[in-house]
Amino acid sequence: MASLTRVPGLLHGGDWSPEQWPEAVWAEDLKLMNEAGVNLVTIGVFAWARIQPDADSWDFGWLDRLLELCHAHAVAVDLATATASPPAWLVRAHPELLPQTADGVRLEFGSRQHYCPSSPVYRAAAVRLTKALAERYHAHPALALWHIHNEYGDHVAECFCPESATAFRRWLRERYGERIAELNRCWGTAFWSQHYGQFEEIEPPRTAPGPVNPTQLLDWRRFCSDALLALYRAEKAVLDEVAPGVPVTTNFMSMLKSLDYWEWSRHEDLVSDDAYPDPADPRAQVTAAMNYDLMRSLKGGRPWLLMEQAPSAVSWRPVNLPKPPGLYRLWSLQALARGADGVLHFQWRASVAGAEKFHSAMLPHRGTASRGWRATVRLGAELRRLGEIAGSRLRGQAAVLLDWDSWWALELDDHPSARMRWPELLGPWYAALHERGITVDFVPPTGELDGYRLLLAPNLYLLDIATADRLTAYVRAGGHLVCGPFSGISDRHDHIHPGGHPGPLRPLLGIVVDEHRPIPDGAATAVRLGPGPGPRELRAVTWSEWIELEGAEPLAHYATGELAGRPAVTRHRHGRGSAWYLSCHLGSDVGPVLELPLAEAGVTPELPGLPPGVEATRRRAADGTGYLFLLNHGPAECHVPLDGGTDLLTGAEVTGGVTLAPLGAAVVRIPRATAPTPAPTPEPAEEHL
Ligand code: GAL
Ligand code: ZN
Repeated sequence: MASLTRVPGLLHGGDWSPEQWPEAVWAEDLKLMNEAGVNLVTIGVFAWARIQPDADSWDFGWLDRLLELCHAHAVAVDLATATASPPAWLVRAHPELLPQTADGVRLEFGSRQHYCPSSPVYRAAAVRLTKALAERYHAHPALALWHIHNEYGDHVAECFCPESATAFRRWLRERYGERIAELNRCWGTAFWSQHYGQFEEIEPPRTAPGPVNPTQLLDWRRFCSDALLALYRAEKAVLDEVAPGVPVTTNFMSMLKSLDYWEWSRHEDLVSDDAYPDPADPRAQVTAAMNYDLMRSLKGGRPWLLMEQAPSAVSWRPVNLPKPPGLYRLWSLQALARGADGVLHFQWRASVAGAEKFHSAMLPHRGTASRGWRATVRLGAELRRLGEIAGSRLRGQAAVLLDWDSWWALELDDHPSARMRWPELLGPWYAALHERGITVDFVPPTGELDGYRLLLAPNLYLLDIATADRLTAYVRAGGHLVCGPFSGISDRHDHIHPGGHPGPLRPLLGIVVDEHRPIPDGAATAVRLGPGPGPRELRAVTWSEWIELEGAEPLAHYATGELAGRPAVTRHRHGRGSAWYLSCHLGSDVGPVLELPLAEAGVTPELPGLPPGVEATRRRAADGTGYLFLLNHGPAECHVPLDGGTDLLTGAEVTGGVTLAPLGAAVVRIPRATAPTPAPTPEPAEEHL
C-alpha cells in the first residue's frame, strides 16, 4: 500500500509558498506541476501571518482558492499547521514568548522559529491556528497529509527564559515524584554544595562560572526534547479530534541530537525527513544512507517520506555547490532504495526575496528553459515509472543500537576526552558495513532484537541494568553483540556503575577496564589483528583502554605505546552467541575487525562482489516481488552481473547483467519465483495510512 491512501504510487513534489507570489502565478505553477508529475505539495509552512493578519481576523480566502486549484489539477496537499514562525503582532503583544539563550540573550523577531517551546501564549496561539485550519479543511478532497509545524529543534532547540524555568521545574517534580531528596540523590548534589531545599530553587542550566551539574544537564536535554514534543502533541491532538483519518507527520532532521526521535515517531502516522547531503562531500551518500536507514527504522521498517531535499544547491553553507548532472537523480533514488515512498523538495518555485532566494528549487529562477527544470520533469517521469514499489519494504541484515539518552550523556563535559562524540563513533562502523554491502536497521534499547543475528553498539556510555540484561539474554540465545569503547559507564542518572567498567556488561563481555587512555589529537596507537586475511596492522585514534581479560579471548593487541602487548579487541563466548569488545576507536580502520563478527554471525551482503561505489538494496512487496536498487556513486562505468528481471527505469529485460554509467542507476523488478527470500510479514491494518 502506498504511504498515502489518497495518492497512489510514489510521492513527488515539494514545499510551495504561494503566499510569496501574486495569484496569477498559481495557475502556471499548477500547470507546470502537472507537467512534472507533481502529486503532493506542502502548503502554508510559513504562512501564519498571511492566514491570521491579527489576533481576531482570519484570511482563508486565498487558501480556499489554492486548495480548489490543487484539487482541480489532481495535486494533493500536505497542509502545514503554519506554526513555525509566529507573526509580528503576536510577538509584539507577548514579547515573553521569544526564546532566550543560556547567556540570557533574547532572540528577536525577524527570522523564524522565534518562540519559547514552553511559552503558554505561543502554545495557545499555535493550537488555535491549528484548530482553525483543521476545522476549515479537514474534509477537503485535496487534503492528503497534515504537516505539523516545521523542523522542531531547528534554530531553537532549547530556551532558558523564566517560562522555560517554570516548565523545567514542573517536569522535574513529575519525574522525581515531588521528592526533592530523590532529585538531590540522582543529581549528586552533595558535590560542590549543590544541594536544593526545594524545587523552586532549581533553574535551567544557564551559563555558570564552571562546569554545570551533569545530571542537571542530562535531565535538561530530556526536558527540552519533551517540551518540543508536548507542543507537537498539542497540535496533533487537535488534528486527531477535528480531522480524524488524515495522516499526520512533522519533518525530522535526520540524526538530530536534540530530539529523541524514537519517542517522537510514536506520535506520528508517517515519518518524514529533510535531508541535505553536501555535494562537496565525497562521502555524503554514506551519511545519507545512514540517515535514511534511521528514518525507515523509526517505525519498524514502514515506508517513510523524504519531505525535503534540495534539487541542487542550498544557500546556508559558507560555499554552496550545485549538484553535478545526475547526482540529483541518484540521490533521489537513494532515498527510495532505503525505503522512502516519495521524494519532495525545498522548494517548488525559487523565491525572489528573503533569506533563501539563492536556494535551488524545482522551478529555478530561469524557469522552464533551465537544466534544473528538465531534471525536475525527468525525476517526475521516473517516479511514475517506479510507482509499483510504493509500500514495499526492506529490512537490514544487522542492527545498530541507538539510544538518545546515552548520546546525550556521552557528550556531556568533563569526560576523559571531549572527542568521544556519537556521530564520530558511529560513522566509521556504519561506513564499514555500508562498504561491505550490509544494510542496517537501527533499534532502540527497548526494541525487538530477535530477528537480528548481529547487533552493533558503537557506544553505550549510559546503560541501565535492564538494557544490559536484555543484551545478555540476546547473546545467550545465539546473538552476536559488538560493543565499542567507553560503554557501560554510567546509569541513567549518569552515576558511574561501581566495580569497574563496563559495569553491567562486564560478565557478558568477559573483560574489565582498568584505565581509559585517550589518544591525543593527531596521534595514533598501532593495533595488530590476529592471523587472517586483510589488513592486520590498524590504527587506533582518539581512544584506547587498558583492559584485563575475565574470560574473553583477545583477537587484537596494541602494538605501540604504553599499552603495547595488551589486548585491544576481544570476544567472549556466552551461551549460544558471542560478545565482542573493541577497547579503542579504530576510526576508518574498523572494517577488518567488524568482518570477524559479520562472518561468525553469517551476515552477508545483499549482492556479493559489487564494484566499489555501487550501493545495492532490495525492497520487497507483500506478494514477494523484489525491487533491486543498484546505484553507482563512483566516477566510472561498471557492470553488475545479474540474471533476470526488468529494469523499471528503462523497461529493459535484464540478461547477463546491468551496466551502470557514472552516477547511473537501475531498479530491477525480480518476480517472486526468482526471489526465493521470504516476503516480509504483511502490514498490519492501519487506521490512517
Ligand atoms: C529546511 C527548512 C526549509 C528550508 C530548507 C532550506 O531546513 O525546513 O524551510 O529552510 O531547510 O534548505
Ligand atoms: Zn523559554
